[in-house]
Amino acid sequence: MIPLKNERQIRGIREACTVAANVLQELKGLVKPGISTQDLEEAGIKAMTRLGAASACFGYQIGSRRYPAHTCISVNEEVVHGIPGLRRILKDGDIVSLDVVVRHAGYIGDNAVTVPVGAIAPTLTELLRVTEQALRLGVAAAVVGNRIGDISATVQRYVESHGFSVVRDLVGHGVGLAMHEEPQIPNFGRAGSGERIKPGMTLAIEPMVNLGSYRTKTLADGWTVVTSDGSASAHFEHTVLTTDRGPEILTIPQPVLSPVHACDAAVAARQSA
Ligand code: MF3
Ligand code: CO
Repeated sequence: MIPLKNERQIRGIREACTVAANVLQELKGLVKPGISTQDLEEAGIKAMTRLGAASACFGYQIGSRRYPAHTCISVNEEVVHGIPGLRRILKDGDIVSLDVVVRHAGYIGDNAVTVPVGAIAPTLTELLRVTEQALRLGVAAAVVGNRIGDISATVQRYVESHGFSVVRDLVGHGVGLAMHEEPQIPNFGRAGSGERIKPGMTLAIEPMVNLGSYRTKTLADGWTVVTSDGSASAHFEHTVLTTDRGPEILTIPQPVLSPVHACDAAVAARQSA
């Protein structure tokens, strides 16, 4: 069963998503040739702290491994979960995916974007455009009465019609009270399949698109997912609230509420826990 959020939870998730979007926007603005992915990590930590949030990635456990950083920064053929590092210097012509997941007053917001570093090849520009548009179309399919598979099929159809491939090994997901909730939201699949979409779902929709084959592998660091053929990969993600009036993207940068309000939200979250 996909959890449906109540009004109070939606208020909290909305605010966490705004914070996540503000952090992501700040990091986007720093990307340029010559900076290291560790510079982005440090800026991310500062921004999250300033906004009263913490990383939901840091210490996140899969099996016996804990994710060692606060942001995921993935360059070129890295699909997701790239670990920032001092020696990883961005250079002209790269693309870099920034993935920011915050916990704020007990609620989670998740978003990602891929940006060019300096001037990039036309095929990479097209990869970014198609992936971002696939996200827009996927979001637009998150309509009450549709099914989860309608999001999946929409993303896949659009991406493949442009000659790119969708990653199969990783999926979008419900989000809000935990980083990964039901349902899984693959970026491939059959229209009309899966659970029916109802009002009050908070969904992380996140196409991951490869220039070449859809196949991926995980590096020896246990986290970094790369394309098997070494081709470039792009990733765009929003957290979306489903409503009777249509899907609402929650991860939009905007001024955050006052610290007083954030404190109220924290108290409410503690009381409901
Ligand atoms: N947005 C990523 C996801 O949904 C964030 C993962 S954080 C990590 O999987 F700890 F797993 F790296
Ligand atoms: Co996600």
